[in-house]
Amino acid sequence: MSDLTSPLAAIVLAAGEGTRMRSRRPKVLHEVAHRAMIGHVLDQLAELAPARTMVVIGKDMAAVAEAVHPAETVVQSPPLGTGHAVKVALDRLGGWTGSVLVVYGDTPLITAATLGALLAELRRAPAAAAVAVLGMRPADPGPYGRLVLGAGGSLEAIVEARDASDAERANGFCNSGVMALGGRHAAELVNAIGNDNAKKEFYLTDVVALARRRGLLCRALEAPTEELLGVNSRLELAAAEALMQHRLRRKHMAAGVTLIDPVSVFFSADTEIGRDTVIEPSVVFGPGVVVGEAVEIRAMSHIVGATIGDRAIVGPFARLRPGAELGPEVHVGNFVEIKSARLGPGSKANHLSYVGDAVVGGHVNIGAGTITCNYDGFLKSITRIEDGAFIGSNTSLVAPVKVGANAIVGAGSVIVSDVPADALAIARGAQVDKPGRARKLREQGAAAKARAKSSPKERSKV
Ligand code: UD1
Ligand code: MG
Repeated sequence: MSDLTSPLAAIVLAAGEGTRMRSRRPKVLHEVAHRAMIGHVLDQLAELAPARTMVVIGKDMAAVAEAVHPAETVVQSPPLGTGHAVKVALDRLGGWTGSVLVVYGDTPLITAATLGALLAELRRAPAAAAVAVLGMRPADPGPYGRLVLGAGGSLEAIVEARDASDAERANGFCNSGVMALGGRHAAELVNAIGNDNAKKEFYLTDVVALARRRGLLCRALEAPTEELLGVNSRLELAAAEALMQHRLRRKHMAAGVTLIDPVSVFFSADTEIGRDTVIEPSVVFGPGVVVGEAVEIRAMSHIVGATIGDRAIVGPFARLRPGAELGPEVHVGNFVEIKSARLGPGSKANHLSYVGDAVVGGHVNIGAGTITCNYDGFLKSITRIEDGAFIGSNTSLVAPVKVGANAIVGAGSVIVSDVPADALAIARGAQVDKPGRARKLREQGAAAKARAKSSPKERSKV
């Protein structure tokens, strides 16, 4: 009887068309914190270590199949309801006798802890249940199926809102859609579902009444409504994003990161940050960012695909693009953009620079307004700056080019060929001083202005 150790198959429903998103993209691929909604669901499921994970998709959803790999997929076409979707999945699983967990691909906030609690509820002693359902109490129960409880709190039936009486609709305990089934009965119950209802669909929810009719036990477990938010529209997508950001901010603060103004900082699901890092207001982390310890990220910085070493200082107003790799104690200041470039320990680019496709050593000083000219309209080329070099302000480094160790480049230079180590390179027009010429020009100008004032006709001729 004990299902406690039975293997788990997870079934993720994602065949719905998601018409209300008004999108060319399948709904479950829309992102929350820069991860596809279904990716969040699969990440949480993975913590339960299911033996099989089967995603039910609609036709023309090859992109979903690709995105969920290595999870298996099965096409349900046409979609005839949630019960039909689970039947299609169970058929593909072929004679599965372990536990089954059914979740939706469009509930990105569900957590492994809650899913684990539902499985524990299914298997709870003294008698394992055939079906366990996650219930919720949303502020507006409107369209949700209602969980009908019997004496002693067991679950007796799920009534869809469209098929419910007024009295049944007054019940605020709703079906989230997440359901666990004891494997021994799963296929039999699912195969028994009919479609005699308002929508002429095969409702998964009918398994509860079918189980009760067979004298099998069903249970409901209440979970936080927030975790069960299903996304059907862009409005709900934004609501899910806000909840996820709230969660991510709390997670990073709990792990030892200071957020001075948490609500203005936006994370990606995969952002990694070391302890004692301080993040000022209005910072955005795109995907693929790893930040070390005791880093200062100053206001208004935008960071994507970058690695930042310990004790570095970034911003204010810095832009780190994919492939930016800052070593420890690097300083990247205001209006500096770094892309596909490595900066060694202690190097600084503090003002108004573009460093792209570059390999920069340690303790290099990149002066204000320095630009790596990495693109000639056809090809990208690499700039190399070796340890200890000093690049004067307003320098253009025309790649491919190398500045040797401890070399100095004079301000305003356009460097088109390699600079040897320890050399001083100056590549700009030579300065010419004309003694007294400024005073003379000023006197000539003043005289011309006076003449024009006294004879306006003269001026209009000009
Ligand atoms: C379903 C439940 C309802 C519950 C609600 C929670 C049923 C009959 N009703 O209703 O009790 O309160 O979810 O949000 O189960 N899907 C498929 N194939 C299909 C139909 C649906 O894969 O043939 C997928 C959808 O993509 C979606 C999920 O199943 O992810 C739920 O489908 P949806 O049509 O939204 O069900 P509801 O009517 O909202
Ligand atoms: Mg729905």
